[in-house]
Amino acid sequence: MVSKKRVAVLISGGGTNLQALMDAALEPDYPARIVLVISNKPDAFGLTRAARAQIPTRVINHRDYPDRTEFDARIQEELEGADIELVCLAGFMRILTPGFVTAWSGRMLNIHPSLLPAYKGLNTHARALADRAERHGCSVHLVEPALDSGPVLVQGSFAPGPDATVEDLAAQVHRLEHRAYPLALSLLASGGVTIDAAGQILIEGAPGPRILKS
Ligand code: GRF
Repeated sequence: MVSKKRVAVLISGGGTNLQALMDAALEPDYPARIVLVISNKPDAFGLTRAARAQIPTRVINHRDYPDRTEFDARIQEELEGADIELVCLAGFMRILTPGFVTAWSGRMLNIHPSLLPAYKGLNTHARALADRAERHGCSVHLVEPALDSGPVLVQGSFAPGPDATVEDLAAQVHRLEHRAYPLALSLLASGGVTIDAAGQILIEGAPGPRILKS
């Protein structure tokens, strides 16, 4: 029996990445278990996905809190109450305070729709198209206080076609995300991710990130 890490997934929307993580975690030898889903949006479809999978959900609406510190403290309370060991941000559209991020250092992942460090922030597909980027994709990284920063565990990468639209890129990225996030969580949960003395990320002993191609 593998000992499975207890994971919370934070969402704001449709939750297709949440779905990919929940599906992967059904495998008997997957090293993590999704035990809590938190959304800052009461109408996020990801909440329905979690309920269907009989995973407990919480809505913590940022509008109910006077500032980010109190909002993050409420999330922290839920995470501690559920004995959470690892956190996955999956389309969670709130910026977290440095204090919260530091508390989860090395134990919190985010997925971003670009090949980081390229195109941090929003509208990544349109920006990649405008630049005629040779490659585009997604990155799963450990979260650090600066936006979309931190060591990258896994990237999914492809060459956009000559006539690709923003919608095409979004669909291709999403497909890769659904492979990349379960892999990254599995690597982190099984202890396969280390940072060497120079600050370089090692994935099962080899310099990262692990690259998936479409
Ligand atoms: C993904 O594209 C992810 O990279 C970004 O938000 C999107 C979430 O999609 N951070 P979903 O809710 O998982 O379908």
